[in-house]
Amino acid sequence: MAEDTRQKARAIARKHIEAGDALGWFEALYAGADGEFSNIPWADLAPNPNLVDWLEAGRIRGEGLKAIEIGCGLGDDAEELARRGFMTTAFDISKTAVSWCRRRYPDSRVDYRVADLFAAPVAWRGAFDLVVESYTLQVLTPGLRPEAIRRIAGLTAPGGSLLVIARGRNRTDSEGAMPWPLIREELSEFENAGLKNLSFEDYFDSEDPPVRRFRAVYLREA
Ligand SMILES: C[S@@+](CC[C@H](N)C(=O)[O-])C[C@H]1O[C@@H](n2cnc3c(N)ncnc32)[C@H](O)[C@@H]1O
Repeated sequence: MAEDTRQKARAIARKHIEAGDALGWFEALYAGADGEFSNIPWADLAPNPNLVDWLEAGRIRGEGLKAIEIGCGLGDDAEELARRGFMTTAFDISKTAVSWCRRRYPDSRVDYRVADLFAAPVAWRGAFDLVVESYTLQVLTPGLRPEAIRRIAGLTAPGGSLLVIARGRNRTDSEGAMPWPLIREELSEFENAGLKNLSFEDYFDSEDPPVRRFRAVYLREA
């Protein structure tokens, strides 16, 4: 991904955040991309390998289970979940992103929706056997993250699991620039929201250069 693309996205984010609209930049970014994937810094056009590896390890099989993806972007991860048999809902706050998903995957079995995590349909509460959050918390400003975490946790059904994948840093490291790496302590809010932490991996991925990632799994006990 070109550094230029990331710098432009940071400028759009900064402008909206400074104007007091911490969520408005997502639609502005997608709408301003003119249908060009290369203008979206996180558009890899392939499922996230950190998700695929976890699915391959096979703790959860898709058949008959309901999954939801938070902030689905251009849909690659949601399609991967559906391909593996999950009945998949995927949502994004950006209507342009969602129409992009529908255009990319016209025959998809994924139920793509435009929705804001902070105002998600009541019917989604506690409704999903697998909740996948990858890279959305880290593009939300720190003040929004505790509520976002409560909302994400709230989608997990009794007996269901939540997978979280994010950039990671130490508390003493600089906060950096968007996408802002998270600190482990921020994720403990998932436990305050009633989930049990099953695993927490802190590792460098295989990108060039490698990126420090957190990958954590939580359970809502039945
Ligand atoms: C960094 S991107 C990650 C996209 C995708 N999950 C991936 O890994 O490629 C974060 C996505 O979350 C979406 N998003 C941000 N805030 C949201 C909210 N409050 N509700 C729903 N989606 C949101 C953005 O529009 C964006 O598509």
